[in-house]
Amino acid sequence: METRILGRSGLRVSALGLGCMGMSDFYGQPDDAESTRTLHRALELGVTFFDTADMYGPFKNEELVSRAFRDRRDQIVLATKFGILRDPNDPTKRGISGRPEYVRQACEASLKRLGTDYIDLYYQHRVDPATPIEETVGAMAELVKEGKVRYLGLSEAAADTVRRACAVHPIAALQTEYSLWSREPEDEILPAIRELGVGFVPYSPLGRGFLTGQIQRFEDLAPDDYRRHTPRFQGENFQRNLDLVARIRDIAAQKGCTAGQLALAWVLAQGQDVVPIPGTKRVKYLEENLGALQVQLTAAELRQIDEVAPVNAAAGPRYPAAMMNSVNG
Ligand SMILES: NC(=O)c1ccc[n+]([C@@H]2O[C@H](COP(=O)([O-])OP(=O)(O)OC[C@H]3O[C@@H](n4cnc5c(N)ncnc54)[C@H](OP(=O)(O)O)[C@@H]3O)[C@@H](O)[C@H]2O)c1
Repeated sequence: METRILGRSGLRVSALGLGCMGMSDFYGQPDDAESTRTLHRALELGVTFFDTADMYGPFKNEELVSRAFRDRRDQIVLATKFGILRDPNDPTKRGISGRPEYVRQACEASLKRLGTDYIDLYYQHRVDPATPIEETVGAMAELVKEGKVRYLGLSEAAADTVRRACAVHPIAALQTEYSLWSREPEDEILPAIRELGVGFVPYSPLGRGFLTGQIQRFEDLAPDDYRRHTPRFQGENFQRNLDLVARIRDIAAQKGCTAGQLALAWVLAQGQDVVPIPGTKRVKYLEENLGALQVQLTAAELRQIDEVAPVNAAAGPRYPAAMMNSVNG
């Protein structure tokens, strides 16, 4: 398995990680047994980088990952996140907190659920507009000093926020949405984090599954699937985005790979400091996705992909309006 180092942190991880969110939340019916098989198979195939968060489930996903890896904790790089508050009795209600006392409380709770005494990479999930980033990262840095956390990360933070955070403590990784239909980080964020030596962890690199071409109709999504509430999966946007996927699929067919593999290979080709974390709860998809590491794109192919999926190619914003103001904070 190819490995990569996140920025200048020294943290070495498998070139593809595994996103665990959909195993417990948002994308249809959970299946803990198949998810556990997927986690074990991933490690067997050389994946070492596993991504969860306290809010996935809520809380259930950390517990699932913990159960799967309890006897092999030292073999994995475990990343989790804090900062999005959800009420287990009403998971639609959301809050954001980066207050120092909350950072500590959230970390202690995650450690307990994860059944471990250290988190390898601890991210702030969303920047709290009410708490200066220096205070949040100051509290996160205390956790590093105490040995509870090894490396720090941010998610969906603006370039300037990452810069301010780095002045308090080195940041190993920024985790932000990035894929063939979400290329926004290319403008400001990628150049800034490269200058700062921060690694990049693209989430939803398969466009929440859409770029695989497996989702052809709105009805393919379960009635409680979160994606039904997101603009790119609705109405006319859905149809226009299918056209984009058809163009990606044509190039994949020429290359002899699947559309999903092409989408992942494109993200992987954006730099050695980029470590995508495609999500799945199925062994079959995991194995297909790891095949992307064998897909080498030439400069001519990258240009061809640029033509069919340029910046802003997707129809519709990536989040519903109410959630858009929590990104790039
Ligand atoms: N920081 C943040 O704010 C944030 C936000 C979102 C996600 N994330 C993290 O990033 C990870 C990945 O993102 P994501 O899960 O949102 O999106 P993704 O990786 O773009 O896509 C996941 C979806 O694609 C499907 N899929 C995966 N491989 C497939 C294949 N080979 N063929 C067909 N379908 C396939 C999965 O289906 P199944 O579910 O059926 O396996 C799932 O529905 C998450 O698990 C989470 O850890 C972070």
